[in-house]
Amino acid sequence: MFDPSPRKYPDLQESALGFVLRSPAKINLSLRIVGKQDDGYHQLETIFQELDWADEIEFCESKEFNLTIQGADLPSDGRNLIVRAAVAFAEAAMVPCRGQLNLTKVLPLQGGVGGGSSNAAITLLGLNRLWQLNWDRHQLEPIARKLGADCPFFLYGGLATATGRGDVIEPLSGASGGHFVLVLPTFGVETAWAFSKVKFPLTEVEKNVIFSSLPSTGVGEKRALKLGRNDLENIVFQRFPELNDIRERLLELGACLSMMSGSGSTVFGLFEIDEDAQRAAHELSKNRSVRVKVCRAIARLR
Ligand code: C5P
Repeated sequence: MFDPSPRKYPDLQESALGFVLRSPAKINLSLRIVGKQDDGYHQLETIFQELDWADEIEFCESKEFNLTIQGADLPSDGRNLIVRAAVAFAEAAMVPCRGQLNLTKVLPLQGGVGGGSSNAAITLLGLNRLWQLNWDRHQLEPIARKLGADCPFFLYGGLATATGRGDVIEPLSGASGGHFVLVLPTFGVETAWAFSKVKFPLTEVEKNVIFSSLPSTGVGEKRALKLGRNDLENIVFQRFPELNDIRERLLELGACLSMMSGSGSTVFGLFEIDEDAQRAAHELSKNRSVRVKVCRAIARLR
């Protein structure tokens, strides 16, 4: 049963040999590109929302560092963001890098739901506990930032706005209401490619969102951050028109908001009523070339 009351981040469970942290997915309720920095990164104004869909990482004591992965064919060496997070944290804290980490992967790769960044940030939070370092989240932020622009958000979870490269986080209380239908194509979109195609000035694609379930303490106050706009959509939809077809189909099926998350390839629809979301999910899952997932948004204690 879904529990809408805010809880502590991240979700933690003791296990036989250590503890397990959930490593959640996010979507962007808005993603505006407002400029380009000298380092090539783009300046963003975005709204992140954590979802109740997650990988899991188990953290156990061990003299050496080792990572196992279930559920995806991913490297478990220095190419993996979890390993890079562990090494960077050990260096910054000047402690030996140790621990047995077991990742159970369910989130899609290159899907625009932040799976890799989430794993990296949760690794920092988990090792902080395993190594009993007691660093606060502000101290972890610079390490997270170096691992990826989406990474700092996952130190806080819940609902948040972000500026800078998407890495300057303002955590908010509350969460979006409603039911998210995520449509995940079998292919991913490379973030660097999508951003490399950005040309200013951007074409405005304003969307008329009629949705009453956003918290008054949250997004409602952020008037500058228009809900429902993703400035990467035009670029990504040009190369993958089928993603725009999915967006339109979600609207036809009754979504009050439908957009791409991050740089894609995930496209989601937001429904006020569960039955409508379930019906849309059922319709869309007839298409064999996509995966469909219905999610709720999570609120965190601030
Ligand atoms: O930070 P992350 O590794 O997720 O970003 C992948 C790529 O996306 C960057 O190398 C950069 O080319 C692009 N990017 C950008 N502006 C952002 C975030 C990412 O140009 N704010």
